[in-house]
This record gives sequence, structure tokens and C-alpha cells, in this order.
Amino acid sequence: MKIGILTSGGDCPGLNAVIRGIVLKGDKVYEHTFLGIRDGYRGLVEDDIFTLPRKQVRGLSKQGGTILGTSRMGPYGEGNGGAERVREVMDKHEMDGFIAIGGEGTLTVARMLFDEGIPVLGVPKTIDNDLSSTDVTFGFETAVAIATESIDRLRTTAESHHRCMVVEVMGRDAGWIALNAGIASGAHAILIPEVPVTIEQVTDWVQATVNRGRAPVVVAAEGFRLSGADVSAKHGVDHMGRPRFGGIAEQLTPIIEERTGIETRSMTLGHLQRGGVPTSYDRVLATRFGTHAIDAVHRREWGTMVALKGTDIVSVGLAEATRERKSVPRERWDEAAILFG
Ligand code: F6P
Repeated sequence: MKIGILTSGGDCPGLNAVIRGIVLKGDKVYEHTFLGIRDGYRGLVEDDIFTLPRKQVRGLSKQGGTILGTSRMGPYGEGNGGAERVREVMDKHEMDGFIAIGGEGTLTVARMLFDEGIPVLGVPKTIDNDLSSTDVTFGFETAVAIATESIDRLRTTAESHHRCMVVEVMGRDAGWIALNAGIASGAHAILIPEVPVTIEQVTDWVQATVNRGRAPVVVAAEGFRLSGADVSAKHGVDHMGRPRFGGIAEQLTPIIEERTGIETRSMTLGHLQRGGVPTSYDRVLATRFGTHAIDAVHRREWGTMVALKGTDIVSVGLAEATRERKSVPRERWDEAAILFG
């Protein structure tokens, strides 16, 4: 068979390890050949496709980013031609099917294409770890490790200056990175999109930490919003607690400083969390996803996605895989919150 591979959406440490796993096993065991599709679905729409031989994936498991490139463009965007255009380009290259490595958006598009008869198989990817049908996504552990190390470093400078530090981590819809990096680094408050918290509660934790002679560290997921209409618009949030400008760390910093009198600084870790080499755990998970994905392709299990259940790699339908997001359960945050302040 001739199989295409694309990586789409935000990049993630471990993408190259998946590509390597697919190509190595596919070539060695099944004698399939591979086509690299550049920049996700853009490569399919614009016919930007190249031969991907086994020698090109050598040594890739430790390399960050994606050798295929990525984008957020989709075939269903205006003027992109939808499934018809995808079928036309696949036929031109005699591609039997393709593997889409991506998060919720990428997998939803894959499911839509499959529903229109395109042979596609999914591999889940996101540093946010918010896909419900897999226990873990690769890239998450790496992101948590980077965030934890960064918070540890920020804490020592905060202690020296007797300051409060507000650290913003990624997590648009789910607070998994904030929760885990916050617990690992011993944060004095962890703010996540799933749990409403008022500014009074945040400043109470900060004050309690200062009262014990420590420098408070507040970890906030980018998707967190202050609850209650208790914060005035001059601080950059509206009456619903929604941001007017800047990230959540930038908005919280002047409020904490004004209400507690403690000098406060903010740091947004941003794309640092997605860059560089994957941890060994992520390399192993990504490699297993890759080798199991090509097994499933060989069995022509189109319309499915590989997933981790316990210690096993299993197949789930793309429809099920994209049905709901995996949020942080309230009890998990409560467990951590006992230690705040
Ligand atoms: O979906 C993963 C993610 O890291 C989100 O947490 C974040 O909001 C987003 O990607 C950032 O994406 P971009 O690279 O487009 O700025």
C-alpha cells in the first residue's frame, strides 16, 4: 500500500517519533511505502506531497517539532474543495489512504472525510491532554516537565525578591498542564478553566503564603477566567470576568499587587511548552501509537484512531474519539486545593 502521513494543528513533542514508528514498521514488516504531506491538510489541498523513505526517519524519535510541518488549514475551509479535492490529490499520487496525526480539530476533519468515503486513520496529539478517548496524549508529559522546571526557576527568583509570581501555562479548554505542573512545583494556587474561583479566594491564598514568610506562586491555565463581577474593568476584565486584553497572568498580576500590596510579576510560558525534545515517556508512547497505527492501516481499519487504555494501545472509532473533551474533574482540583495558600 502507499500511505500518506500528515501532522496538523499545534505541534507537539513526539510527532516525529510517531512518524518514525509508522514508517519503520510499515517498511520493515509490511513493505508499504510512504508519502509525507506538508503542513497538515494544506499539503492535501495544495498537492504538496513528497516520498518519505525509511532513511529519512532515522534518529527522529528524540527530535522536537514535526519534519512534515503543520498548519491549521482544513479541506472544508472556503474554496479548499472539501473531500472532492482530497480524493483528487490522493488519486493523483495513488495514495491508498492516510494517517492524520492531530488534536480535536484535525480528528474531527478526519471523521468528516471518512464519512465521505476517504480512507483515513487518526493518531491523537495534544499537549493539553484533553482528548477523552485516550488515557494520555504524547507531548503532555514533556509540557508538564518544562512547565514544572520553569516554575521551580521562577520560584527561586520570587523568593529572593519576596515577590508573588503568576505563571501562565497552556490549556485553552482544560487545566491538565496547570494542575500537574502546579502540584509538581508546589504552587500556592492553581487556576483552571474547569473550576470557578473568585479574586478574593486568589488573594487569600497569596496573603496566607506571604504570612508564612514564603513567596507565593500562582499557576494559571490560559483558559482560566475569574468568576464573579467583583473585579473592575480597569484591570482588564469585563463584568463577566472575561479578559479584555492580554493573557490571564497579565490580568491577575496588577489585581493581586493592588489588593495584597505584594510586588507581583507575571510570566507566560507559551510555546516553550511545545518546543524541544520529548521526554522518554512521550517518545515511547508516540512510537507505540505509530507502530499500532500502521498495524491498523494494514488491517484497513479506516475511520478509527489509536488510543491508550491502561497500558494497551487500542482502536476507537473517530466518531467516538471526537465526541467530548476530557476536562479536569472537580475532585482532582479539590485534592490539590487542600494544599493551597
Ligand atoms: O491545543 C494546544 C495548544 O497548545 C493550546 O493549549 C493553545 O491555546 C494553543 O495550542 C496555541 O496554539 P498556537 O500555536 O496556534 O498559538
